[in-house]
Amino acid sequence: MTDEPVDSRAAIDAVGDRTAGELDPRVHEYTAGEDQDGIPFVGAGPGDPGLLTVRGKELVDEADLVVHAGSLVSSALLEEHCADAELVNSVGKDLEELIPLMRDAHENGRTVVRLHSGDPAVYGAALEQIDALEREGVPAYIVPGVTSSFAAAATLRTQLTLNGVANHVAFTRPRGKTLDAEDDHVAEFVEMGDVTTCIYLGTHAVSDTMDRLLDRDGVDPETPVAVVYHASWDDEDVITGSIADIGEKVEAAGYRASAMVLIGEAATGAGYERSFLYGDWANGGAADAGSDGSNSAGDAAETTETEADD
Ligand SMILES: C[S@@+](CC[C@H](N)C(=O)[O-])C[C@H]1O[C@@H](n2cnc3c(N)ncnc32)[C@H](O)[C@@H]1O
Repeated sequence: MTDEPVDSRAAIDAVGDRTAGELDPRVHEYTAGEDQDGIPFVGAGPGDPGLLTVRGKELVDEADLVVHAGSLVSSALLEEHCADAELVNSVGKDLEELIPLMRDAHENGRTVVRLHSGDPAVYGAALEQIDALEREGVPAYIVPGVTSSFAAAATLRTQLTLNGVANHVAFTRPRGKTLDAEDDHVAEFVEMGDVTTCIYLGTHAVSDTMDRLLDRDGVDPETPVAVVYHASWDDEDVITGSIADIGEKVEAAGYRASAMVLIGEAATGAGYERSFLYGDWANGGAADAGSDGSNSAGDAAETTETEADD
């Protein structure tokens, strides 16, 4: 333990020049989800305690201290899986406060878990904490979770990629206090047509975002939009509409945070084409089928399709 202030900027700078060829050696030693030394950064999933991974559950069940992402981690999950741990809400705390808190607990022999909402890899700001901890001599690693756009797709009973409808997915956020207007690419993704655009951190700005889209010649105002508030929570709510009317509907509902905005035809789950995966092309003709329905041509096609399109 040290009383020296944590220099989180130096930790970020220290990895700033790293290239792809200079990855942390642990990248090659462990697979995702494997137990490792240090503090796990666990993806809590979208909220339903049942959507925490098995590995994440094992880790929080054993934790003495859980530092969680405040209102984005559902209280149901904290009650169900973290009842025996000390809980600290990270909202409003800066790195200079969070890092010594986790470091000291770890060095005092306590089992620490950092719990992020959804998956830590998506708008999670996990890496700067991991690098700062490691600079303090505390190893850390990531345990993935279900990101909220996947939960929203499940709620909507649709796919984010859908044959003949959406070939791509964009995870994005709209301009605001922490994103300059020139770095807001929502309109470009929507204009592409075959992209499902998943907007994180944009609930408060649905009307503004839609108004900007309506100003673009390349955007169809009737493009479907679904807004899923608190996906997988008990108070989950779904609002559907189009670029032309969704802003008004969300304002009427009063949601200002914690919703996923999905733009694109895939949000409706309609209009798709049968995929190649379960079609004649994949099966290579019924004559080759074995007694269990399998055949080598089908297996090969499935591999190709899975890698290429599904
Ligand atoms: C700071 S980001 C964190 C995202 C998280 N790491 C993830 O993978 O879902 C917070 C944003 O994620 C979205 N979000 C998180 N949980 C959600 C949920 N259960 N339902 C809908 N949107 C959610 C909202 O757009 C919210 O503004």
